[in-house]
Amino acid sequence: MSDRTAKLDVGGESFEFPVRRGTIGPDVMDISSLYSQSGMFTYDPGYTSTGSCESKITYIDGDEGILLHRGYPIEQLAEHGDFLEVCYLLLYGELPTKAQNEDFHYRVTHHTMVHEQMNRFFTGFRRDAHPMAIMCGVVGAMSAFYHDSTDISDPHQRMVASLRMIAKMPTIAAMAFKYHVGQPFVYPQNNLDYASNFLRMCFAVPCEEYQVNPVLARAMDRIFILHADHEQNASTSTVRLAGSSGANPFACIAAGIACLWGPAHGGANEAALNMLAEIGTVENIPEYIARAKDKNDPFRLMGFGHRVYKNYDPRAKIMQKTTHEVLAELGIKDDPMLDVAMELERIALTDEYFIEKKLYPNIDFYSGITLKALGFPTTMFTVLFAVARTIGWIAQWKEMIEDPRQKIGRPRQLYTGETQRDYVPVANR
Ligand code: SDX
Repeated sequence: MSDRTAKLDVGGESFEFPVRRGTIGPDVMDISSLYSQSGMFTYDPGYTSTGSCESKITYIDGDEGILLHRGYPIEQLAEHGDFLEVCYLLLYGELPTKAQNEDFHYRVTHHTMVHEQMNRFFTGFRRDAHPMAIMCGVVGAMSAFYHDSTDISDPHQRMVASLRMIAKMPTIAAMAFKYHVGQPFVYPQNNLDYASNFLRMCFAVPCEEYQVNPVLARAMDRIFILHADHEQNASTSTVRLAGSSGANPFACIAAGIACLWGPAHGGANEAALNMLAEIGTVENIPEYIARAKDKNDPFRLMGFGHRVYKNYDPRAKIMQKTTHEVLAELGIKDDPMLDVAMELERIALTDEYFIEKKLYPNIDFYSGITLKALGFPTTMFTVLFAVARTIGWIAQWKEMIEDPRQKIGRPRQLYTGETQRDYVPVANR
């Protein structure tokens, strides 16, 4: 708590609210007593100025382009850590010791298989179903299989459900991909690390041995780290709101997947690559920059802009570096989409409109080029984002459930509809 208070004067009536100070970042005005004191609500569609919770997991400084997970900069975690180590950090708050790390890796690895009967869900989908549609359905259905980890009041069941989600998401995502391309499912291999296992489940075929490329596996692991958590973004807020009613974690994660799918959020990586393909050549860039600036044109530069970052998204910088590493490893000398992306970024970052509105590339701008080079179709891009973000959703859900002050989330509104009126029989309408 800070020693400051916030005073609000409305038509001569004044109200006072405590100001709370975090360890870093903006202070907050605790207005939870506003309605009981004043009979008024705050009004903040899109929550541009609203803190929904207290959290210790991730800190973002949008002006400085800083992202910390439990205090560790994303640059250091991406450089030195591996994804499961970051999962442990997000879940438990500290980097694991060697023994804790080995135990966590072992436990996750030994939960990667899904109930064999879940395979039948897939055959109900059309082969051309979008993999995100399949993910929404199959992950939500997990609560039909794992009844022994749906009691959220039991810490042991919460831990088991968390491990199951982290471990089984890559398996389900790979199954969605295999079903989409008409190839047989590939079972997880316990002798492989998380990212290698995922690549093998996606790209191995029964006809030949699949050799994991360690450079590509490291890139995949780093991409998972970059997407792991991001404060109270739309899908995380969806998971928290769903969880606040006591819904089981599988259902909450399915809700998060649904929200992530939107092109303004996690769906932007698929939309960004489709946009680069539509632009096609460097010569066409000015036309699209003009469209992005035209108020009457709904077109936006996908992969650009962010609610919080008014500086370069630190993840985008690391993603760009990873893109070059993957293209070099695959011997892709000149990727026309990368040329368009680099030139588009160069032009946008010198254009008055983008400078004034502080629009920079976000994590979705370069990820699509990398994922396409790794062999994924654009329809799988947001699925990969969901696989990585599962740990963020789970960690934030766990933090909410374990907060003794937690209550169901139930926003109010500004009502501008009809006042009360009487029913009119159809004969008189
Ligand atoms: C993710 O929240 C998170 O943390 C999300 C995420 C995570 O890890 O969870 O970081 C992942 O979702 C990244 C964002 C991916 N989305 C896109 O790349 C889609 C394109 N970007 C925009 O749709 C937009 O920038 C948002 C949705 C990301 C942010 O929207 P805001 O905060 O509501 O900002 P805004 O729409 O009010 O834009 C402010 C101004 C507007 O102009 P004015 O009305 O003030 O005149 O900037 C303009 C916008 O028109 N603008 C853009 C633009 N983004 C914003 N103009 C052109 N191209 C763009 N991409």
